[in-house]
Parts: sequence; structure tokens; C-alpha cells
Amino acid sequence: MHPTTAPLPAQANGATAPAAAARPVTVPDFLAARARGTRLTMLTAYDYTMARLLDAAGVDGLLVGDSLGMVVQGHETSLTVTLDEVIYHTRLVARGVRRALLVADLPFMTFQVSARQALRNAGRLVKEGGAHAVKLEGGVRSAGAIRAVTSADIPVMGHVGMTPQSVRRFGGFRVQREEERLLEDALATEAAGAFALVVECVPTTLAEKITAAVKIPTIGIGAGAGCDGQILVTHDLLGLFDDFRPRFVKQYADVGAAIRRAAADYCREVRDGTFPDADHSFR
Ligand code: KIV
Repeated sequence: MHPTTAPLPAQANGATAPAAAARPVTVPDFLAARARGTRLTMLTAYDYTMARLLDAAGVDGLLVGDSLGMVVQGHETSLTVTLDEVIYHTRLVARGVRRALLVADLPFMTFQVSARQALRNAGRLVKEGGAHAVKLEGGVRSAGAIRAVTSADIPVMGHVGMTPQSVRRFGGFRVQREEERLLEDALATEAAGAFALVVECVPTTLAEKITAAVKIPTIGIGAGAGCDGQILVTHDLLGLFDDFRPRFVKQYADVGAAIRRAAADYCREVRDGTFPDADHSFR
């Protein structure tokens, strides 16, 4: 199957299309995209305003990732993020989404204890947050959790490779190269019922092997161009977060610099008395 650049059937032709014209992207659309060879696009979102902008741009899926621990909360890892925090941010994003599939992350220790815990917490992301699907990390060891959640008709996106919740065991955010283990994890995720699979920070050829081994779409991040789709953390793509920039990130805009410039201009104009002027005051 040769990947195409054709949009999913639902796409409302980019940023200027009226949001109301767009049919929402569904889990079957993700599977159909893989079957047709149409590449999927995903980004992270944590609030209403950004969700609206990204959704209007035609992104197929938005993830309320536990990366919010780093790029929104300022922690060094995602380990401290709570389920209530993800639910809160998912609610904000849900209000801004018209078309994209909305996926919410199960944070560290909200699904590892038991399959029942995973099911209960995935249910909260759907019922209280408005998520369309949930994502959880780990392959073989998470198969029971994935099975329990999908048995309640909650779609699950798996996540293998450099799983950020394993950062302490890995000793840092490191590229993962153990081919046999990663293939087993991918196959276990698919067999347990996941509809898609994030593959993070693995060599390009290994990501291609994983993609060939499974039938569900793979969504790569730091995994080369051979995956069925790509995801990036929006703060990285926009240049909003410079505490740490992984090699795989492509920065498409420097919004951080634009914000610093705008805020500095505002401070200067307030201090020298040029703002507010007559145009921005009432008579
Ligand atoms: O939390 C997150 O943002 C993620 C993506 C990087 C895949 O898991």
C-alpha cells in the first residue's frame, strides 16, 4: 500500500473551511485511512482556544497527552499528572473540537494497578471529559487493561517504544531499539483490541517493521516516515516550549518569539504612555 496525501473523507479543506461543514473523524475512519494508505495527522491540545485552532486546520486527531505535565505544568516528567487534571483539560479541548477525534491519556498509575482500575478511569475520561477514545502506554504488560477498556466499547490507542511513563526505568528519554520486545508489545496491543498505536522514539527501520507487523494504524513520533501517521506535541511544533527539544521535533513556527516580542512591545508602550491611545479608549 502506497501512502497518499488524500485527506480523510471528513476533512473540511483546511483552515478557512467552516467548522460546521466538517463530519467528525471516527475510529473507523482511522482504520480506513490505514487501509487506503492515507496518512493520519495528530497533535496534542490542552485547552479550548488551541483545540479550536488545530481542529480548524484539519488535524485528524487531538490528544490530551500527559505531556501536559511538562509543557503546561512545568514538571520534568509526566509522572505527577493526575486523572482529574487530564479530565479537566479534556473538557476544555472537547468544547473546541468539531472534527478531530479526541483522545485522552490515562496518566501514570491510573491503569497499571488492575484491569478494573483501567476500565473505571477510562470511563471517567469519556463520561466526565468528553473523550472519544483513550490512550495508554505499554504493550504486553498493558494487554489486560486494553482488553478490559475495549470490552466496554471505549476505543483504546496503544503506545509503545519510548513510553514516557517508564522514564525512571529507561534512565531518561532514550531511543528504544530492542526489536523483539517492541514487536511483541505492538502485537500484544493489537491483539488486545487497540484501534491505533503510537510508536515513540524508535529507529525508522524498526518502526517500519512494527507498521508492517500490525493491521492497525501506527502513529509515529520520533519514529521516521514509515508510520501510518504522525503526532507531535503542539508546544514543540509552535516553538512555545524550549526547556528541552528532542531531535525529532520540527518547529513549524516561532510563536514563543512572537509572544515575547508582543509582550515587550506592550510593556514599552504602557511605560512610555503610547498605550492606550485614543483609538483604544472611550470618549
Ligand atoms: O503525552 C503525550 O503528549 C504523548 C505524545 C507525545 C504521543 O503521549
